[in-house]
Amino acid sequence: MVVQILRELDRRKLDASDDGLFYAAPRFVQHLDAGFRARLTQLYRQRIPACADVLDLMTSWVSHLPEEITYQSVIGHGLNAEELQANPRLDRVWVQNLNTNQALPLESASVDAVLITAGWQYLQQPEAIAAELLRILRPGGQLIVAFSNRMFAQKAPQIWLEGSDQDHLEIVARVLVAQGWPQPELLAEPTRPPGPLGWLGGQGDPFLAVIACKSLA
Ligand SMILES: C[S@@+](CC[C@H](N)C(=O)[O-])C[C@H]1O[C@@H](n2cnc3c(N)ncnc32)[C@H](O)[C@@H]1O
Repeated sequence: MVVQILRELDRRKLDASDDGLFYAAPRFVQHLDAGFRARLTQLYRQRIPACADVLDLMTSWVSHLPEEITYQSVIGHGLNAEELQANPRLDRVWVQNLNTNQALPLESASVDAVLITAGWQYLQQPEAIAAELLRILRPGGQLIVAFSNRMFAQKAPQIWLEGSDQDHLEIVARVLVAQGWPQPELLAEPTRPPGPLGWLGGQGDPFLAVIACKSLA
């Protein structure tokens, strides 16, 4: 059973048109800066074993996985087929609007790690997605939800528009725990751009992540 946390007005977006239209044209851009991406790749290197079946949910043409590691499999989901086909890390892909259909076409206990990068902030029904992720992960599997302080504001639900970085971490954790996830780990770190800008004290995109592990029982 899905436990609702958000109110209906929390789910509203400035642009209520079909998300598929917004993502109809491929965007071969980086949504996060180099400092953020390096931190995310390092986290994946530390946490995800090579034997893992990985699901990169809400992905694009990049997955930020460490290049030197070959995983057992990497499944990709997104809203733009051209972006997914251009992503060299993905073994198989599917397109699905998660704001209109939250049922994931994957078997229960079939993946070891789920990644959502710069995506959770567009979910209008995050509770149902959190419940599905708990279903499809194997016991001991992990979910890594990473994001920064930027978004396509017209496509983010009201709750995300109004919240601070800390609020965002807490709402993701609350939604997960309400569906039966154990209390997740929360990361909030500054990043630095690589090279001279970083050496001179330049700031990169803030790195925020919620890491949750499905219990072994
Ligand atoms: C800012 S991009 C991030 C892409 C990628 N994860 C990355 O790190 O560059 C947001 C992604 O969220 C996904 N997305 C947004 N709204 C969605 C929706 N309604 N249903 C499914 N996916 C959605 C799309 O795949 C889109 O590429």
